[in-house]
Amino acid sequence: MSFKVLAIESSCDETSVSIVEDGRKILSNVILSQIKTHQKYGGVVPEIASREHLEAINYVIKQALDEADLSLKDVDLIGVTKGPGLIGALLVGISSAKAMALAAKKPLIGVNHMEGHICANYLSDPDLEPPFISLVVSGGHTYLVDVKDYTTYEVLGQTRDDAAGESFDKVARALGLGYPGGPKIQKAAESGDPKAIDFPRVMLDKDSFDFSFSGLKTAVLNYLNTEKMAKREIVTEDVAASFQQAVLDVLVAKTIKVALDNKRDKIVLSGGVGANKPLRDLLAEEAEKVGIKLYYPPLILCTDNAAMIGSAAYYNYMKYGADELDLKVYPNLGLE
Ligand code: KG4
Ligand code: ZN
Repeated sequence: MSFKVLAIESSCDETSVSIVEDGRKILSNVILSQIKTHQKYGGVVPEIASREHLEAINYVIKQALDEADLSLKDVDLIGVTKGPGLIGALLVGISSAKAMALAAKKPLIGVNHMEGHICANYLSDPDLEPPFISLVVSGGHTYLVDVKDYTTYEVLGQTRDDAAGESFDKVARALGLGYPGGPKIQKAAESGDPKAIDFPRVMLDKDSFDFSFSGLKTAVLNYLNTEKMAKREIVTEDVAASFQQAVLDVLVAKTIKVALDNKRDKIVLSGGVGANKPLRDLLAEEAEKVGIKLYYPPLILCTDNAAMIGSAAYYNYMKYGADELDLKVYPNLGLE
């Protein structure tokens, strides 16, 4: 008998519901993005996000069940993102999950969104099993994690200031490219020269696996100001390409070193910035040189989606069992 999870993700600006079988197989994965709404404000507006989740959630739940050709009674577990994320947005998902769990008498489990990003890889690679190193790069977090088994994580490095995705978003905004910044920077960089401007690669101490991206962001802003003051032409594509290369060089160097130091032979890329093609290519190239196998999910499972929450819910339920119906939201939830 297969075990089916109905999972809800509503931590930021995607309302998503998915049905996942045995932690590995996607039966449906409906994602309703609010990006168009937030684009005109240049970033996610929390109050608007909550309201849009509220308007969409019932429809998205129904759609996910319909696409999987199931009804709520066929589901074995309700999984929901409990954090980290925007408090109002998280509350919409949690309230719906509780209502369904209560009405249909199903167990409920809260899931860590960042753990979900890692688990996205179990859906795309049926052979992938821990242990491995994961580089988790999203809009709000940057982690280097030793994934010891399906539910045990040790954070070996994290950002001390801006997250990788955040730096893409901030630099894109300064360049007038719009939101979300990652895909816009990647696109502009395609016709730019990554060597045009020598932006800093902040490695911190030699043995540290922590990151710092705010200095790089400031260097880009200073460069733009200086060029403007001197009335020199700014080549947006070159700035985008040089900035992106600086981020990638640091992410890739630290990820390879952490895997080698911890004698792991697999690296798993997760989170929205994991959708960045040059990052995938550079990491694949460097991993191959040292005999490490690289895994990454398809684009749709890199950015926020409920299928990844369904996978994480399955493994956590099998290990720890269900949560109570008074489950709370944790906007600043860490990974360990
Ligand atoms: O994981 P995610 O969808 O949401 C969070 O949990 O934060 O990540 C969103 C982040 C944004 O900062 C976005 O700019 C970045 O992922 N991103 C990218 C790309 N696609 C999305 N960054 C670089 N290159 C991309 N292609
Ligand atoms: Zn995310």
